[in-house]
Amino acid sequence: MQPVINYTQNQNEQPLHQIPWFGIPDHLKNTKKDILQLLLNFNQPNWAVSHDSQTYLSTQNGINPTNSNGGIQSQRIAYVPPMPLESFGDPTFMQTYGTRYAYYAGAMANGIASVDMVVALGKAGFLGSFGSAGLSPARIESAIHSIQQSLPNHNFAINLIHSPNEPLLERHLAELYLKMGVQVIEASAYMDLTYALVHFRVAGLSRTPTGDIHIQNHIIAKISRKEVARKFMLPAPDDLLNQLLADGKITHQQAELAKFVPMADDITVEADSGGHTDNRPLVALIPTMLSVRDEIQAQMQYLQSIRVGAGGGISTPSSALAAFMMGAAYVVTGSINQACVEAGASEHTRRLLSQADMADVIMAPAADMFEMGVRVQVLKRGTMFAMRASRLYEIYSKYNSLEEIPAPEREKIEKTIFKRNLDEIWEETQAFFEDRDPKNLERAYQDPHHKLALIFRWYLGLSSRWSVVGETGREMDYQIWCGPAMGAFNQWVRGSFLEPMENRRVVDIAKQILMGAAYQARVRSLVNQGVVLSDDLHLYYPPDNQE
Ligand SMILES: Cc1cc2nc3c(=O)[nH]c(=O)nc-3n(C[C@H](O)[C@H](O)[C@H](O)COP(=O)(O)O)c2cc1C
Repeated sequence: MQPVINYTQNQNEQPLHQIPWFGIPDHLKNTKKDILQLLLNFNQPNWAVSHDSQTYLSTQNGINPTNSNGGIQSQRIAYVPPMPLESFGDPTFMQTYGTRYAYYAGAMANGIASVDMVVALGKAGFLGSFGSAGLSPARIESAIHSIQQSLPNHNFAINLIHSPNEPLLERHLAELYLKMGVQVIEASAYMDLTYALVHFRVAGLSRTPTGDIHIQNHIIAKISRKEVARKFMLPAPDDLLNQLLADGKITHQQAELAKFVPMADDITVEADSGGHTDNRPLVALIPTMLSVRDEIQAQMQYLQSIRVGAGGGISTPSSALAAFMMGAAYVVTGSINQACVEAGASEHTRRLLSQADMADVIMAPAADMFEMGVRVQVLKRGTMFAMRASRLYEIYSKYNSLEEIPAPEREKIEKTIFKRNLDEIWEETQAFFEDRDPKNLERAYQDPHHKLALIFRWYLGLSSRWSVVGETGREMDYQIWCGPAMGAFNQWVRGSFLEPMENRRVVDIAKQILMGAAYQARVRSLVNQGVVLSDDLHLYYPPDNQE
């Protein structure tokens, strides 16, 4: 039988081996249980020691020759440094956001990333981003108020999502955030900088008595393209600063200070994720964005360089550790949090998510940019949303108006997808837009193709709400944003206390992922120094029962 721990002799020349290890045999451990325990004690360093042709781990540094009875001298092989969970990532991330860990849970629209979720994370030393997209300003205001009462130290973020169709809403939200003293926003879906974004950032700049620039309002920009990242890594553009100055939204001093700070403190590189995604692989995106950051830092010489964090596909210790090892300043999770008890998602949705496999996701038309053919990643198993929404997009691409759709085709979608007459849907759509965005409605009166888009968007818009509220009878239409990270997570937690969905709590999951990453980092460190561990010690799995 293979030993639990062994050593490859071909690394004999390492300088470490010149230093002997002194101690007593009781301090040498080589059972699976002991090794697991030693490596999980993250605050304690470990030494790998070779004695009598066997390999061991010990917490003793073995520096002083021992005079005690039975003292031995053996060969030192490897060193594993302590690895507290707080040691991952960039410490300035923790300082800036008042967190203990370099980990945040990304926003999930319609309040799926709920007040409860953000508060639970904040209280435990993580950062949570409230899912404001799709909610009314009044609901967002009340959510911010509740979060602020529970987290008075501002250790939370609120999403500000680009709304190309509703620029006024975006400006209104930026003003609301400023008025309420929100200090961190997660900016997403941007292709360019906007008035609202620059307003939020620059209105928080001031000079300290010692002459430094104080940045009160922080922006974490979630991006998957380097040309967009560049814009956030540079200072605010002059034209937007001038507009804000002319409108009296910022002072001359702030406009001046804005020239010396980047638009974002952090860039979250978003790879293949749930919801909106370009499906890029994280392993390609991280080095690319880090290199763009290095270029810009060399050019701008900011006092604090921009951090680059990683999101998209992170749901296990292996993926989190890989991101940190590639240089991510922090990691971001999304899909896995939607299956948690704190999520603003229905029980039915959470159950489907907790059973999903990695291949159970698919790209489907997006509600917000339906006409442009933009797609989002959703759950495929247990819902027909993706198929039905794709059918609607095909029909939209083929016909220029409602009237052009052949009668049998129209009847079919009325029966299977809308479950209502399309004339009724149009009436409801008009009522919705009259209130919210009358200009959009005017366009639809002029352009029958746009009218068709608005009718079809009724289904795309409501299907995500049905998933949140758990609309009975509409289960097969639930639009559940989800990435492959969910399946990887379900595989990892199989048989552990995190398998049943009732036990899934955001904080436990975040801690288990970081614990696993720390454990696996220590294993990799031993392996890199020539220590061979049995296969079943390589990966970390959550315990069966919560201890
Ligand atoms: C259900 C769901 C809703 C999301 N909604 C938003 C959103 O409104 N704004 C946003 O910036 N990101 C949103 N995201 C992206 C997440 O914040 C996060 O960046 C992403 O899920 C990370 O990738 P992962 O799903 O592979 O973990 C959403 C993701 C999911 C799964």
